[in-house]
Amino acid sequence: MDVPVNVVVAVDGTSGSGKSSTCRAVADRLGLRYLDTGAQYRAITWWMLAQGVDVHDAAAVAVRAGEPVLESGTDPLAPAITVDGRDVSVEIRSDEVNAAVSPVSAVPEVRSRLVALQRAIIAPAEGLQGGIVVEGRDIGSVVWPQAELKVYLTADPAARAARRALENGGADVTATQESLLARDRIDSGRAVAPLTMADGAVHVDSTELTLDEVVDVVVGLVMERR
Ligand code: DC
Repeated sequence: MDVPVNVVVAVDGTSGSGKSSTCRAVADRLGLRYLDTGAQYRAITWWMLAQGVDVHDAAAVAVRAGEPVLESGTDPLAPAITVDGRDVSVEIRSDEVNAAVSPVSAVPEVRSRLVALQRAIIAPAEGLQGGIVVEGRDIGSVVWPQAELKVYLTADPAARAARRALENGGADVTATQESLLARDRIDSGRAVAPLTMADGAVHVDSTELTLDEVVDVVVGLVMERR
């Protein structure tokens, strides 16, 4: 199977639509790198909380946005995220971070810093180093509008909540759905880079599909881009 050289696959969509599992499996199957930009917004949020910054004070978040050193691994089988050298992959999934990540990611200084970091990972100064699957909210619209393939992945709120609750060891489905919908509202309504279906994106609704079926669809779309 000849994967297009240096292909960039941009996958945007709502919280819990299955982006991470889909993107990791697609990258693994096609031998591509993988970048979870949500983990970066979560990591900077974790750092703000650890520093005692008021995450609802946009000016306070903005002045500190340049401080933490973030590093993202791109192995789809072992995605890693560190802040100032500390692995925070577990901490960034906490309820505290879930509740704070949308206001932090609405701050323009946070976004401009992370978008620059994301572009540098997608295409380092020496040029693209192999293709990559990038997941987030604004990849196809802002970070990499020139992506060879843009996917907009969604699912019904009830299906998303049920999946997320299962991932979180049987958490309450109703509370999980409320948390997801609250994040969707802020992510879609913010002034800078709101969640939106990018021009030219292919809409994939995963409500009635298994993970393997969604992966098949996206792999098929990548291969059509040759
Ligand atoms: O994909 P996720 O649920 O881990 O993302 C966490 C939050 O980060 C989400 O509520 C919105 C924000 N985010 C963003 O604003 N832009 C991105 N490219 C990725 C995530």
